[in-house]
Amino acid sequence: MFGNQTLAHVGGYLHRRPRVVGALFVATSFALYYFFILNGAGDAILEAIYESGTTNPSITSILRTSNEYRRNPIEPPFKDQFWEVGQRSRNLSQWITILDSQWGSKLPKDDRHLLVNAIEETAISLFPFLRPPDTKQDNTAPLSVLRESLTKGSRGIVISAGGSDSSVRFAGHLIASIRDVLGCTLPIQVVYAGENDLPKHRRDALSSLDKTHNTEFLDVWTVFDDAALQLRRGGWAIKPFAALASRFEQVIVLDADAVFLQSPDVLFEQHAYVDNGAYLFHDRLLWQHAFQDRHQWWKEQIKEPSPAMNKSLVWIEDYAEECDSGVVVLNKSRPEVLVGLLHIAWQNTYDVREEVSYKITYGDKETWWLGLELAGSSYEFEKHYGSIVGWAKEDDMENKTVCSFVIAHPDEEDKLLWYNGSLLKNKLADPHNYEVPIFWMMDGKWEKGGKKDMSCMVDERAWWLSGDEISVLQHSIELAVQVDELLGLNEQN
Ligand SMILES: *[C@@H]1O[C@H](CO)[C@@H](O)[C@H](O)[C@H]1NC(C)=O
Ligand SMILES: *[C@@H]1O[C@H](CO)[C@@H](O)[C@H](O)[C@H]1NC(C)=O
Ligand SMILES: *[C@@H]1O[C@H](CO)[C@@H](O)[C@H](O)[C@H]1NC(C)=O
Ligand SMILES: *[C@@H]1O[C@H](CO)[C@@H](O)[C@H](O)[C@H]1NC(C)=O
Ligand SMILES: *[C@@H]1O[C@H](CO)[C@@H](O)[C@H](O)[C@H]1NC(C)=O
Repeated sequence: MFGNQTLAHVGGYLHRRPRVVGALFVATSFALYYFFILNGAGDAILEAIYESGTTNPSITSILRTSNEYRRNPIEPPFKDQFWEVGQRSRNLSQWITILDSQWGSKLPKDDRHLLVNAIEETAISLFPFLRPPDTKQDNTAPLSVLRESLTKGSRGIVISAGGSDSSVRFAGHLIASIRDVLGCTLPIQVVYAGENDLPKHRRDALSSLDKTHNTEFLDVWTVFDDAALQLRRGGWAIKPFAALASRFEQVIVLDADAVFLQSPDVLFEQHAYVDNGAYLFHDRLLWQHAFQDRHQWWKEQIKEPSPAMNKSLVWIEDYAEECDSGVVVLNKSRPEVLVGLLHIAWQNTYDVREEVSYKITYGDKETWWLGLELAGSSYEFEKHYGSIVGWAKEDDMENKTVCSFVIAHPDEEDKLLWYNGSLLKNKLADPHNYEVPIFWMMDGKWEKGGKKDMSCMVDERAWWLSGDEISVLQHSIELAVQVDELLGLNEQN
């Protein structure tokens, strides 16, 4: 039907102008429809076009599948689409792996164009938010643009700090602590959504807290179109987009209220991370058998649980909460992790989170492992479920109870690494009262307090924090007090 010359030309043209593909199909399809209709095979039309364009059966099959995807886009209700988005994501990450492989690099130029094009078309159809907001930019290959924006070999920390005075304040505490107390020199990107979210004077103030001058700022609205994200009212939803937009290949995503007892560098050394490229932390074991709708939905969507899933007590024993997403570590140079992150981001887009993610589960927490699981990425959680740092109960002379408002997490040697909820004793009730916790406990039983009461862990041995750990926290609190004076934010909390 087409000569080779023409096809080469068409291939190149389609690569530059993939939107034309649609129009071209419509026109050609009408002509070919009557030609092939006697065979009763609609796909034959597409195959006829493509099979004459490439003699490579792998490429042909990829083109056919990516066309299938585009002709059957993901539609609401999204609740029933998590598995399907995952299946398509798996193919997408396979194709990226093929493109990056030796085999891919040796493909003839036109076949390579066809492959790149199929990858981009599939990425855009599954994850429309990839299209940049400014249409003057080249937006036909946004996934390539995103991957090329990564700084080769880079590692760094991403903190989302907009939205509220307290998150700016805690981000300030965190930056001061990891730089001046823990001696961490990893570059930091503070991510926000638009000028109002984190105005210039705030950025300047945060920047001045970093004595190593290695804190950058990134407005996600310059990378992603807010139409699908709605981050103005987004809260937690910014985090996966921050992780995606960051220039770091290997990224530690932090909640602003995280408190570290060791340098965050340690995260990159954990076997769970090195082996899997994605490292997550557990929430508390709570509310067994209490959320049947949630479990039923997970069972419907996770049709073929991975070995990682099979280790989960939420999955096996019906506990309610799996992930504390206050710290997430990802190696985005692994295609399946990057595509897993796209699935996570999709779950945090406005339509999907309003209909499903933030309704059936709480905030962004569970979207992280679910995206990696469904997109077929490897990932690993810390061994233990959420631990606690805090204080003994007054009447507990044997110290078998530890109480506080936070969840703590040890490293792989069972040495305390971080906890959530800021350096304040109770960030929701009293914005002035800093207090150093003195005990911690792992693997005990949680006794959940009401909203205003501490939760406790019981039935295991309580450990004293070491002198070093106490001094890290004391020093961090001293700096936090200075940060509060500089930022002037602690009054309005
Ligand atoms: C897409 O994924 C399915 C399931 O893993 C696989 O059977 C199929 O070959 C893949 N298609 C392409 C074109 O990669
Ligand atoms: C990150 O992923 C890349 C690509 O797969 C790999 O070469 C590198 O070793 C990984 N780094 C770590 C620390 O896992
Ligand atoms: C997960 O566990 C189920 C039930 O025990 C088992 O049938 C399945 O093969 C396991 N899957 C993997 C991937 O280990
Ligand atoms: C329990 O903790 C208190 C401090 O809160 C301490 O004085 C006491 O010696 C501890 N008891 C035991 C048995 O460790
Ligand atoms: C710590 O994390 C848990 C689980 O995500 C949350 O319920 C709790 O409120 C957090 N604590 C603080 C003080 O933010």
